[in-house]
Amino acid sequence: MFPCKLRSCGGNALRTIARSTITCGVATVANASGSLDASTALNQLFASAFGDLQTYTRAPPDEAYLSRLLAKDHVIVLVALETERVVGGLVAYELEKFERARSEVYIYDLAVSEEYRRRGIATALIGQLRSIATGRGAWVIYVQADYGDAAAIGLYEKLGVREDVMHFDIPVTGAG
Ligand SMILES: CC(C)(COP(=O)(O)OP(=O)(O)OC[C@H]1O[C@@H](n2cnc3c(N)ncnc32)[C@H](O)[C@@H]1OP(=O)(O)O)[C@@H](O)C(=O)NCCC(=O)NCCS
Repeated sequence: MFPCKLRSCGGNALRTIARSTITCGVATVANASGSLDASTALNQLFASAFGDLQTYTRAPPDEAYLSRLLAKDHVIVLVALETERVVGGLVAYELEKFERARSEVYIYDLAVSEEYRRRGIATALIGQLRSIATGRGAWVIYVQADYGDAAAIGLYEKLGVREDVMHFDIPVTGAG
């Protein structure tokens, strides 16, 4: 179960939409359709922030898929809300390790709406993720950034330690 915390971030609320979908302090229980709306809004935000409509909006998952996904323990989706509007969010995955009984958390996507940047929202999202990771006994959170993405690099340099690695995509036979 996620820690039930509502964090203040520049007057905005930061809310967990995965699994338990309960927001403390505001007594709102996001039902499946609420989660779907937030997920759709978050994917639209990612599409615009990453300039990638194709990946994030062209083949949206249906409600059944999303409900199943959000119910999984290792899938962590956080959104920053101003009133009901999604103005930032992240998708992260907890990876349980083989060589040792511990886990790591990987931030796959993170973005904040352009007009809401430099208000500490990404920092607050990662702060919330840190609490979740701590609660699960994870020992590290890691994330990749692209060369030239000054905002992401600045953010992660402030919060973590940089490692330069190479990334490879290995095609899967038959994948579209
Ligand atoms: C990267 C991103 C998520 C940062 O969100 P944010 O809410 O503006 O970040 P924060 O306000 O929490 O910034 C925290 C710190 O990160 C650094 N930072 C943020 N934006 C920066 C920028 N444009 N240039 C340099 N450093 C930056 C600063 O050190 C900042 O602290 P400061 O404002 O006190 O100087 C946002 O710029 C974004 O959505 N970019 C497009 C998508 C993207 O690149 N996502 C990351 C994919 S890996």
